[in-house]
Amino acid sequence: AGTGKSTVAKILAQRLGFEFLNTGAMYRAVAYACLKREIDLSDNEAVGQVPSQIEIVFPNNRLLLDGHDVTEAIREQEVTLGASVVAANPTVRSNLVSLQQAAARGTNLVTEGRDQGTVVFPNAECKFFLTASPEERALRRQLELNAKGQFIPIDELLTQQTLRDERDQSRECSPLVPAADALIIDTTHLTLEAVAAQLETHIRQRMAT
Ligand code: DC
Repeated sequence: AGTGKSTVAKILAQRLGFEFLNTGAMYRAVAYACLKREIDLSDNEAVGQVPSQIEIVFPNNRLLLDGHDVTEAIREQEVTLGASVVAANPTVRSNLVSLQQAAARGTNLVTEGRDQGTVVFPNAECKFFLTASPEERALRRQLELNAKGQFIPIDELLTQQTLRDERDQSRECSPLVPAADALIIDTTHLTLEAVAAQLETHIRQRMAT
């Protein structure tokens, strides 16, 4: 979170003319659907049923949940925290992983998400793992929220981020770890355009060999 991975992946897909998949948005959509239905997020059984009851589609980089555009709504704080809870649910994960694999079939795809290189696409041609310092990540999140007119103190964002990191890294099912063959890139002092350019060079070299 906060390493710029979604933005970088989107720029990269545009530069390469590939499809783009934002898997975090899928977990967010499931969390959003649970909150709307007033499902207790700790009720694993009820939460696990939600992905098969909803329809998620991505026309033009928007996210439609059962036909409603929830692109902005799924970025809210409550959904952000809820997403890391539902992402620990094995039934939710297996359901979304199947959708992700289906989206990649027969096409060139830039996908982003914590398990993409390890679990979902272990045979991907190119894998990257983006990192940034905790302070820089929280600052980026603060700027993103500021742009939407919300001000949250940096300490509060750092606390939430740490909680989310711990949950994402310690869960039993597909914890956040870099793939052994991923190139690790620290984005703390780089613009996201520069990161995307670096990845593009790497991919084009790979495509040429
Ligand atoms: O990248 P993001 O902040 O939009 O992700 C939202 C949540 O979903 C986050 O807590 C981690 C989880 N997630 C995941 O477990 N696996 C993915 N492939 C993508 C996101």
